[in-house]
Amino acid sequence: MKNRQDDDYVKENQFEPLQPAANFAKTAQVNDDSLYREAKKDRLAFWAKMADNLTWNNKWERILDDDNPPYYKWFTNGKLNVSENFLDIHIKNGLGDKKALIFEGEKGDSLALTYKQLLEEVCKFSNVLTKLGIKKGDTITIWMPMIPEAIIAMLGCTRIGAIHSVVFGGFSPEALKDRILDSKSKLVVTADGANRRGKVIPMRSAADQVLDQCPGVEKVVIVNRTGTSYNSKSGRDLSWSELMADADHNFEPVTMDAEDPLFILYSSGTTGKPKGILHTTGGYLVGVKTTFRYVFDHREDDLYWCTADIGWITGHSYIVYGPLSNGSSTFIYEGTPDYPGRDRFWELIEKYQVTVFYTAPTAIRSFMRWGDQYVDMRDLSSLRLLGSVGEPINPEAWLWYHEHIGKGKCPIVDTWWQTETGMIMITPLPGVTPLKPGSASWAFPGIEVDVFDDNGNPTEAGQRGFLVIKSPWPAMLRTLHGDPERFENTYWQQYPGFYFTGDGAWKDQDGYLWIMGRVDDVLNVSGHRIGTMEVESALVEHPSAAEAAVIGKVHEIKGHAITAFVTLKEGYEGSEELVQELKSHVGKKIGAIARPEEIFFTYELPKTRSGKIMRRLLRDIAEQRDLGDVTTLMDPQVVASIKEGYTEK
Ligand code: PRX
Repeated sequence: MKNRQDDDYVKENQFEPLQPAANFAKTAQVNDDSLYREAKKDRLAFWAKMADNLTWNNKWERILDDDNPPYYKWFTNGKLNVSENFLDIHIKNGLGDKKALIFEGEKGDSLALTYKQLLEEVCKFSNVLTKLGIKKGDTITIWMPMIPEAIIAMLGCTRIGAIHSVVFGGFSPEALKDRILDSKSKLVVTADGANRRGKVIPMRSAADQVLDQCPGVEKVVIVNRTGTSYNSKSGRDLSWSELMADADHNFEPVTMDAEDPLFILYSSGTTGKPKGILHTTGGYLVGVKTTFRYVFDHREDDLYWCTADIGWITGHSYIVYGPLSNGSSTFIYEGTPDYPGRDRFWELIEKYQVTVFYTAPTAIRSFMRWGDQYVDMRDLSSLRLLGSVGEPINPEAWLWYHEHIGKGKCPIVDTWWQTETGMIMITPLPGVTPLKPGSASWAFPGIEVDVFDDNGNPTEAGQRGFLVIKSPWPAMLRTLHGDPERFENTYWQQYPGFYFTGDGAWKDQDGYLWIMGRVDDVLNVSGHRIGTMEVESALVEHPSAAEAAVIGKVHEIKGHAITAFVTLKEGYEGSEELVQELKSHVGKKIGAIARPEEIFFTYELPKTRSGKIMRRLLRDIAEQRDLGDVTTLMDPQVVASIKEGYTEK
């Protein structure tokens, strides 16, 4: 299978663009170029019009304040409350009995909450938070499985103006600790355990190892999901269900400024320390509401399913904020696609009559490998639109998705965006854009992107360069929590005045963008961002490791597989046991997704004369390519010996 964006493969296989089907376009939210034209004529007026789709307690004074770049502000002095926009206002508009959230657990248990019921739960949790001393501007950490309580907790925060920091449930307690400390969270919401492939993964007792090292955490609220026991710390640990049982189901939403922080979400960068990406209230909501409506072609009767975890930005923007701000019905599933059978996702689509399905290329490649029989067992005729996110989708996977899941009738929206962008930035509009398998097509209306060369000039068609965003957009990150300098250096220094995405890309002669993936030391493993430095730092914390270099080796299913080269300290011998020990050490420090697939011991790492590790060479060795230029190496002999060791494996 050809994986990722192999340029030559794409260029040799130029498919005829697939025109939107007439019957889809006829009823679509947009079926002509009017939105693009309107946004092009006056970008800010376009965003102001989109902002009018929200309910504001006080109208904003300025659409965009660009007086102090890169610290842009949107809808200045506008006042609103997020949960009021999601719940109270939809209920007032007659959607009270519509299902807001539909959940199925791994064991087949299910729950549906209407907008009215969701409002009650959210208000109760707002009261719980308030009773526990949480106020507007405080940060709380949410470390949970994919269960409705996670969403109720997020929305409860928005109602009182607290900032949430959701940490992916699959991250290790160590990673949780770093994020709790960095965000200065006062309260943590977690569960006793999570159901995973028929087993119970303890969460609360696992967190025990680190909660005592977080002195700022005053309270821990624990959802009883699996009945797993743990040692409760009296005065600090509290039961979700007991607190909720006593809570009142009314709570007046707190008015927020458009620029008040809404959430922090940690994401990997090129250093060992994750970045706390900060999003604010008004602009973020305008961005996700607008993109959800047009990209997923929102319809009253849709049942929308995004398979991401709420611990990632996709879960924030397109499980919670985008769908609920539009009054849609959003489906969440607790488990994995292969348990109890490899038809689990298709079974759920059939059972609940899902109409819009949004997933990641890595999952699609797994489905392909498992075989068509699992798909063919189920009736997928309810589907009308498919989406892809997280990494470049290789044309073969795109075509399989189109034929086998979409049965040739569902458009696919390949959506490019980032934790930092908050909202989808490059995407087809399903009723408008002719689709080229493997290309995310072009920018969403009101968004301006380009591909620049090293000197900051736009590239010619076919020429590779760096993807940049040319002007501010409403859902943009505002800063990195506690580290404005890193914010400026990472995104705004490369091309002053433009946002640097960290992705490589090229445009074709029709203006379609082909994203090639990260150009920095960030890996994309199964659609998740992991910094090479994060894994390297974890490795060298082990007593045996002197130095480590981590690269992403192209992997058929995952996109990248983590491969580590490690030099050992005096007195340690490389062995299979040590490989296993180092792998679990990384798993413990960061989480299972960061566990290296392969570890190689080497007596030295290839470095430039200035001491920088040449990861490119290691990647070439791992992928068994010719080594190219090694003349800048301090000791070219090192490469030869690593290569020898690698080939012997
Ligand atoms: O490299 C791009 C890739 O994922 C990165 C962003 O990762 P993260 O912040 O974790 O957010 C993932 C979900 C939005 C980007 O810099 N990426 C994401 N979507 C695509 C993509 N690459 C190509 N095509 C996409 N559709």
